[in-house]
Amino acid sequence: MTTNAELHARRAAAVPRGIGNVTQIYPKRAKNAEIWDEEGKRYIDFGAGIAVVNTGHQHPRIVDAVKRQLDDFSHVCFQVTPHENYVSLAERLNGIAPVPGPAKTMLASTGAEAVENAVKVARCFTGRPGIVSFSGGFHGRTHMGMALTGKAVPYKKGFGPFPADIYNVPFPNVFHGTSSTESIKALKALFKYQSDPSTIAGIIVEPVQGEGGFNIAPAEFLAELRALCDEHGIVLIADEIQTGFARTGRMFALDHAGIKADVVTLAKGLAGGMPLSAIVGRADIMDAS
Ligand SMILES: Cc1ncc(COP(=O)(O)O)c(C=O)c1O
Repeated sequence: MTTNAELHARRAAAVPRGIGNVTQIYPKRAKNAEIWDEEGKRYIDFGAGIAVVNTGHQHPRIVDAVKRQLDDFSHVCFQVTPHENYVSLAERLNGIAPVPGPAKTMLASTGAEAVENAVKVARCFTGRPGIVSFSGGFHGRTHMGMALTGKAVPYKKGFGPFPADIYNVPFPNVFHGTSSTESIKALKALFKYQSDPSTIAGIIVEPVQGEGGFNIAPAEFLAELRALCDEHGIVLIADEIQTGFARTGRMFALDHAGIKADVVTLAKGLAGGMPLSAIVGRADIMDAS
């Protein structure tokens, strides 16, 4: 029997320290909400791959869909030979995403890639450079993802310089003594003192911050962001990579607040562990060129 300790020693020798490990449990198999490690010990898995396997490990419909797809083809590249699966998933996401009016969907592989493309879309549509994000927010490990992320350690320290024209504003958080009113005041101060709203392409927000400590954006805060984006022609981007697909009890976290975004980024629960992400947005924004 291979032990967790043996595997951890091999891991230390073969894998860089930069990838942190929360546990030293090495799963051999997993089913529903349980994991069995290499030593045969059983655990209840509260990690769920960090909000990825929303339907549990090895859900039979997901396993079956993956097997059927592998029997047909694994990769053809949509840009070379488009295929029905991509189109029908886009149609389904366009129908359920919290986006007003006709929507369009682009697929990618990771959450960070979805965020990168949401920023590209917002900039292309508005012709503006600026993007606003929030303290405690997490948007991925690419350079743009890091720039948008509002947490210095462990995500940003030592990795700069970051892309320009990114502005970080305090997220409403009762534990940090910041109310919705104060957050909005800080955003308005940014507009006044640092960057006129006519230079801001997008505001990106997690309706419930994940990495930041499960902080819920108050509905009145999201409504105010929506109003400011409407007033200034700014694209409101909801990062629902962690909150999407019923993680908060509704299909999307924005549904609780009754707010719609212009662009939504999705990943994680979208494909139950397969590397798939999506950018769903207003058709006119997504088609910008
Ligand atoms: C809100 C949010 N945005 C973006 C990301 C980045 O996704 P990925 O790790 O798939 O690049 C994550 C991942 O944890 C996330 O929680």
